[in-house]
Amino acid sequence: MRVLGIETSCDETGVALFDGEKGLLGHQLYSQVALHAEYGGVVPELASRDHVRKLVPLIRQLFQQTGVDSGSISGVAYTAGPGLAGALLVGASFGRSLAWSWGVPAVGVHHMEGHLLAPMLEENPPAFPFVALLVSGGHTQLVEVTGVGRYRLLGQSVDDAAGEAFDKTAKMLGLGYPGGPILAGLAEQGDPKRFRFPRPMTDRPGLDFSFSGLKTFALTTLQRESEGLVGEPLDRLKTDICRAFEDAVVDTLAIKCRRALDETGVGTLVLAGGVSANHRLRERVDAMMAERGGQACYPRAEFCTDNGAMIAYAGWQRLRAGQHEGMDFGIRPRWPMETLAAV
Ligand code: KG4
Ligand code: ZN
Repeated sequence: MRVLGIETSCDETGVALFDGEKGLLGHQLYSQVALHAEYGGVVPELASRDHVRKLVPLIRQLFQQTGVDSGSISGVAYTAGPGLAGALLVGASFGRSLAWSWGVPAVGVHHMEGHLLAPMLEENPPAFPFVALLVSGGHTQLVEVTGVGRYRLLGQSVDDAAGEAFDKTAKMLGLGYPGGPILAGLAEQGDPKRFRFPRPMTDRPGLDFSFSGLKTFALTTLQRESEGLVGEPLDRLKTDICRAFEDAVVDTLAIKCRRALDETGVGTLVLAGGVSANHRLRERVDAMMAERGGQACYPRAEFCTDNGAMIAYAGWQRLRAGQHEGMDFGIRPRWPMETLAAV
């Protein structure tokens, strides 16, 4: 079975072809970062319009890259939610129309299930059961995974997602957009000993997270320390704040992952979503898993952030099990992952 995947939930247009026998045949990605940069964040209406502009050329490129023609495609998967309603509608209506015209089934994929299954595209895929830490711009969740569609939510952020906290803190420091990777890059040069930020909600039991206080902590640190500073000393201060912020987020995530593994008795940890591209988080989790004698799995860096490959793969899993959409049409901007059907 060969599936075309379409991702348009936010600010990346992604398309990919996944083949049940040959694996991933190819993928194409267009990032709207330049489009939204001047506004300092994603403008939903601009995002939708750009998906409309980019889908056809990207799919043409994908067919050229892979040498595949539409006649060999047996299903279409598109992101049905969660995400920006207008952006989702573009991919959903496009995917459904293509499937209709090709006479093949279509399936709406849950964006976070796409992230969660992305490590399955790698050389050493994780075996069930595993604990997944999903860390993206919109979600921070710990999930016990016993199969495709078998998800038990263990904990989640009660306020900002980890990626959102990276982005907001970067914006507050005036670092530009998209903030997460820029802040992480600066943190590399920061002094880890200058400031120590709190590890929120680690002093009490439970697997929930709270990251919005760290952003405020970064702001008050900046205000307190920056008086009279300009030029290099001010840049150094910001760099050291980046390091303290990143260390706090990474440490907090790692502590909760360890707790989730202990509570479930599971030996494999999967990291997925944009923040799982963070080098320091990977180092920290690798060291922890080596110490425990367990396995840590991640997608390759380009599949940590939004992409079409993860949607093609998740859609293939569902279509090959006979799941597909009916005649009704809809998207699900809010969609709890625990409500998904098992495969
Ligand atoms: O999964 P994703 O591409 O989109 C959502 O589904 O939200 O995640 C994007 C998020 C952004 O908040 C971005 O700043 C963050 O992932 N991110 C990072 C890094 N790369 C991307 N955060 C920290 N360190 C990174 N290296
Ligand atoms: Zn995402």
